[in-house]
Amino acid sequence: MINDQKTATKVLEDNKKQQIKHVAIFASGAGSNAKKIIERFENSTRVKIDLIVCNKPGAGVLQIAEAANIQTLIIGKKVFSDTGYLDELKNYAIDFIILAGFLWKIPSALINAYPWKIINIHPALLPSYGGKGMYGNAVHEAVLLAKEKQSGITVHYVDDKYDHGRIIFQKACEVVENETVESLAQKVHELEHEYYPKQIENLLDTLL
Ligand code: GRF
Repeated sequence: MINDQKTATKVLEDNKKQQIKHVAIFASGAGSNAKKIIERFENSTRVKIDLIVCNKPGAGVLQIAEAANIQTLIIGKKVFSDTGYLDELKNYAIDFIILAGFLWKIPSALINAYPWKIINIHPALLPSYGGKGMYGNAVHEAVLLAKEKQSGITVHYVDDKYDHGRIIFQKACEVVENETVESLAQKVHELEHEYYPKQIENLLDTLL
């Protein structure tokens, strides 16, 4: 009996080890977060970054994808809103989606197809300083204008509202006197690079 249990546990563990999670990163900017995520999983036997989805031809992230030999999909707004490019994602057997600097609202076609399997990173401590139009320097400007003593990053699930889904992780940084938009942006980016890949790995571990 004990032996049977041991065997069953071992088989389950072996199965888990063999499962590969196929991941798409949606990014339309410079792609510094995408790069860190790609690096984190480049030698992984359990997680494969198969696809970069981008709505901006010429975005920096496309060069990062090319250098890493990752396929790219350039999307248009109308088709994205209507279908979420679900067929294309299914063709790549994508089972998890990471947003890293992707500004379009995720359509319900994708939210429904990937429940609790789409995450985003926001460059502030949600629920403050989120919502439509709150991206890039606009976020840091608002934080400084409000004389906040801290800002930071938020990793969260994606739902049908901007920057709204359940929070997974937050990390704060200090806003010092004489802080500028640029210095705060840099601090926040450093936090993102340090923590987003780790959080993704933790989350995927629980799914594997
Ligand atoms: C990051 O600051 C992230 O929080 C936000 O978009 C930015 C993307 O930066 N969602 P990068 O393209 O990864 O450098």
